[in-house]
Amino acid sequence: MNISNVVRALARVSLALTFVVIIAGSVVRMTGSGMGCPDWPKCFGYLIPPTDVSTLTYAEGRSYGAGQMVLRNDTLWVANEAITGTSLFNREKWYKYPKHDYATFNVLHTWVEYVNRLATVVYGIPVFLLALFSLLLLIKRGDWGVFLLATATVVMVGFEAWLGKLVVDGNLIEHSITYHMFGSIALVALLSVIVFRMSVAKLDARPSSVFTHSLLALAVLIFVQILLGTQVREHVDVIAKFESNRSLWVDMLPLIFKIHRSFSLVLLAVAIWLYRRSHQEPMIGQFRLAMLVLIAEVLVGIVLGYFHMPALAQPLHLFLGALSFGLIFYSWLRARFRG
Ligand code: HEM
Repeated sequence: MNISNVVRALARVSLALTFVVIIAGSVVRMTGSGMGCPDWPKCFGYLIPPTDVSTLTYAEGRSYGAGQMVLRNDTLWVANEAITGTSLFNREKWYKYPKHDYATFNVLHTWVEYVNRLATVVYGIPVFLLALFSLLLLIKRGDWGVFLLATATVVMVGFEAWLGKLVVDGNLIEHSITYHMFGSIALVALLSVIVFRMSVAKLDARPSSVFTHSLLALAVLIFVQILLGTQVREHVDVIAKFESNRSLWVDMLPLIFKIHRSFSLVLLAVAIWLYRRSHQEPMIGQFRLAMLVLIAEVLVGIVLGYFHMPALAQPLHLFLGALSFGLIFYSWLRARFRG
């Protein structure tokens, strides 16, 4: 078994799954399913969550495992121990779920959140294996770089999971969405560097330094734009709580929306300059793709901003934003280190 090949494959799979997890998280938000599972890591105390509210309705003769929940009088009750339902609800055998008072069952919300959690667990597998195999690479070839990057990736995934759990537990940390987004972009960057280091492709010639620096500048600009977009989104979340009519949302947004929108012009100007310049530079495949993704991203942004914020455009906008960052960052790595 060639360890380099395994590390390369694991890094690619992990990077691809990072985008899947970003999309899954965004679908949770688009459908408002964040509280679909009140507890963590189980869901209403079950490994596989209920598909019908009857499972969460207290009934005589039914068995409940310790930790399983029932919905009663708008309250979530958790079984203290394994019990069988009697004709009267014995409050001594149950306690009120202490972490928050959100007590509703909506099968769509529960399953969207559950699938999101499954995606995260599946994501954890190649990331963990990547760290393990990078340790072997360190032992065999003394490759500290990949090992440290893979370790940082595991730590970052742990941080993201911890942040997600805090939000589910009802700890509303200010700007938690921004931190979460920051973590996702950091994961894209870390895994891109590993994929790059393990890659065997080489550019024919070294791109000019002005082109290389401009690629880095564009990656930084996209990162800033993503953080601005996340601020817009935090406001959208607040507005969505009291106004269900999507066509009114954009007009209610504060100045940050206009800043985010106008900042796209700066991005586009740099991207167009780079595109024109790229004809005199060695061909970088990821850069061409990034240009298409960036155009698509701005178009989806326009759809959000001028066509009443269609729900499907929300995860797409987030996904294309993260993807354009990843592709430009990777193009910069190739240009800078001639990979
Ligand atoms: C390259 C350009 C752009 C990038 C990288 C970008 C990125 C982002 C990101 C990452 C978010 C947060 C999404 C989320 O957390 O779910 C966001 C939100 C948003 N962006 Fe952009 N954006 C760009 C251009 C635009 C343009 C041109 C417009 C409008 C004309 C726009 C309108 C919006 C709106 C309305 C939101 C809030 C969407 C929501 O709440 O789901 N964006 N943007």
